[in-house]
Amino acid sequence: MTKTYRIAAIPADGIGIEVIAAGIEVLNALAGKTGTFRFRFDHFDWGSDYYKTHGAMMPADGREQIRHHDAIFFGAVGAPDVPDHISLWGLRLAICQPFDQYANVRPTRILPGITSPLRHVSGPELDWVIVRENSEGEYAGVGGRVHQGHPEEVATDVSMMTRTGVTRIIRYAFKLAQSRPRKLLTVVTKSNAQRHAMVMWDEIAAEVAQDFPDVTWDKMLVDAMTMRMVIKPETLDTIVATNLHADILSDLAAALAGSLGIAPTANINPERKFPSMFEPIHGSAFDIAGKGIANPIATFWTACQMLEHLGEAPAADRLMRAVERVTADPSLHTPDLGGRATTRQVTDAVIAAIQGDNE
Ligand code: IPM
Ligand code: MG
Repeated sequence: MTKTYRIAAIPADGIGIEVIAAGIEVLNALAGKTGTFRFRFDHFDWGSDYYKTHGAMMPADGREQIRHHDAIFFGAVGAPDVPDHISLWGLRLAICQPFDQYANVRPTRILPGITSPLRHVSGPELDWVIVRENSEGEYAGVGGRVHQGHPEEVATDVSMMTRTGVTRIIRYAFKLAQSRPRKLLTVVTKSNAQRHAMVMWDEIAAEVAQDFPDVTWDKMLVDAMTMRMVIKPETLDTIVATNLHADILSDLAAALAGSLGIAPTANINPERKFPSMFEPIHGSAFDIAGKGIANPIATFWTACQMLEHLGEAPAADRLMRAVERVTADPSLHTPDLGGRATTRQVTDAVIAAIQGDNE
């Protein structure tokens, strides 16, 4: 019997619209090739344009509308004429946090044909997954401003960490590390300077580690971590960090792997009480929006993450093989990779590679 997956597509802003359209084409082609499942995409026009008309990034019952979908396929949010904190809190975080997508998973590899800016690194030396805490910490939204505009104005953003929140993300990271061949986890911290929550974070890591005796793990201060990622990338495999630390490290990781145009991310609710959300890491990139030159590879890669989450691992592998065949050909590189290919050409090439893959 053919299974149907109901996917909520939210392309939102800028190049999000182009890359999600490309992703849907590729996923439909993949379903056609595989024959055992298909997709039903429901399209939601939420985002900054919606905000300009309705005064909100999504309708009040928006989350209810997508609550029962199997997954959310998300583009990018942010527009030059809408303040970033409004677009972000009004849509992306308004989905991630209430849907308890606390595990943000960001794989990084140097795909075939892509050149890393690191002289000494060509491929297998850099194969990481960053696990980002995605529900609290520096993004908890706790804080405030008083006496606005006056000299005595005070503003705070309080990073809030809970034992439950830290334990579940560290446990998720240990499990993921355990499932990967090297069984190697690096816990990123800053407990030398931040002496409350980060110290608790370290203690919880040591506690959880006891349940994973087969995982080798170490602890790394976030500043030193940036150096290690550049100088000794081969010593890393799975990485877990707080919301903000991982935000920063994952941009570094994407740059070291060749381009932000490739980097995918999954916002996972591991308990599956709510749908999980899959998106490229890159933003809405208004400077190139509408030009047809956005790199769709990050979206294709996150589509692989979505397939894995749906339990379609062989289809995810097939899609990743197709992506890697296409990146291997420099004539199919978009401008972010130094090439001249268009979104259309890359998408067509990936579809052709799917169709020609008879493994
Ligand atoms: C990311 C992005 C977002 C974040 C931005 C758009 C607020 O940088 O997903 O990494 O910081 O979470
Ligand atoms: Mg970021």
